[in-house]
Amino acid sequence: MKKILIETYGCQMNKADSELVAGVMLPEGYTNTENHEEADVILLNTCAVREGAEDRILGILAHYRKYKEKKPNLVLGVIGCMAQNLKEELIHKRPWVDLVMGPDSYRDLPKAIQQLQSADHEPLVIVRRDRFENYEEIFPVRGEGFNAWVSIMRGCDNFCTFCIVPFTRGRERSRKSSNILREVRLAVEQGYQEITLLGQNVNSWKDEESGERFADLIRAVGQIEGVKRVRFTSPHPKDFPDELLYAMRENPNVLVPHIHLPLQAGNTEVLQRMNRGYSKEEYLKLVDHIREILPDVAFSTDIIVGFSGESYDQFQDTLDVVRRVRFSGAFMFKYSRRPYTKAEHMPDDVSEEEKQRRLEELIELQRSIEAEIVQEWIGKETEVMLEGVSPKREEEWIGRIPQNRPCIVPAACGQVGDLVKVRIVDARAMTLVGKPL
Ligand code: 5AD
Ligand code: SF4
Repeated sequence: MKKILIETYGCQMNKADSELVAGVMLPEGYTNTENHEEADVILLNTCAVREGAEDRILGILAHYRKYKEKKPNLVLGVIGCMAQNLKEELIHKRPWVDLVMGPDSYRDLPKAIQQLQSADHEPLVIVRRDRFENYEEIFPVRGEGFNAWVSIMRGCDNFCTFCIVPFTRGRERSRKSSNILREVRLAVEQGYQEITLLGQNVNSWKDEESGERFADLIRAVGQIEGVKRVRFTSPHPKDFPDELLYAMRENPNVLVPHIHLPLQAGNTEVLQRMNRGYSKEEYLKLVDHIREILPDVAFSTDIIVGFSGESYDQFQDTLDVVRRVRFSGAFMFKYSRRPYTKAEHMPDDVSEEEKQRRLEELIELQRSIEAEIVQEWIGKETEVMLEGVSPKREEEWIGRIPQNRPCIVPAACGQVGDLVKVRIVDARAMTLVGKPL
């Protein structure tokens, strides 16, 4: 049996894609390994969303040259968004890489690897753009755990001016409802209790045959026997349907009240230059509206600081939105200028030092708000889905409450995937401590 090692960088979409790649390769007679020395194939599934992500991979590849030297017929491949972005340039930068393959070409993996293993083959660069893939009938081989990522669509048509994704992952297309539901049923049979539906903009998911929209899909997923929790990421604030909120309100134990709602920036002019399709006021109004329908909802978000032309005053609007919404979690980034995007031709005129200062100011504000949110949980009752032994103390278990915050519980109260009712009695940093009821 040949052995394959797949390393994943970047977003959840990439995690799901790595499982898809395993779904392509394992039926070809490969088994997974985590040992670099014994691997016959090493694939790095990469991200291109910020320059830093790419630099990191280039560093890792410099380091992986040694595996090629020890085992010349090892196939070292770079797949995913960075592969699609850099193409041949990647081979020029790291000539010992054998394979560069974009996210729409994974069906060609077995053939490409076979070619590379037979004789002294030149590196292969396969970044097709003639066909956008949905991998409708390929079933991913999932890793251990309780959560199954289920990709419901691929690509993106939003063209936010900072974002490379429409260029690496291509045009937006939805998978068929029947295939998604089949995949969810299979995941449940395999023992996964939580389902996370993935797409660059889940609100625009549509089944072309039946006309079903995302709210219909999530209702259907929530009704599948054995599905304990359903999460999704990400909806776009510019077109958030009430139907989705009603679906969540009807079945709150399964369609849990947590919404990842990427803000990106708080200032309306900056949002316009980003082509986000909403103003500061519209975003705040949407948050209020969602809270009216789902009072227990927790929001998380993505924020970029130092986008082209963002003044310090305009950045204050980002802080203002963060204060008013009180996100329970936030991923915060410094703007990084990317090729192919509209903003590539706008000045990257906020200095690195200033981006860093704004990032630190934002992180500090977010940290203080999160600390308050954690304290507000103490005394309340909620439900934890157990994920496994706590990485810090072996006698304790860790899980998540519906709003997605981690919560520690004493060990002897169940198994992975069980739902345990608790009262929150304490907090350790940003993690809650629950006592089973
Ligand atoms: N620079 C910095 N952050 C970016 N993101 C996307 N493109 C860029 C960029 N050019 C962030 C956005 C997105 C998250 C996945 O990455 O916040 O939501
Ligand atoms: Fe995910 Fe975007 Fe990074 Fe691709 S570029 S891995 S879609 S975050």
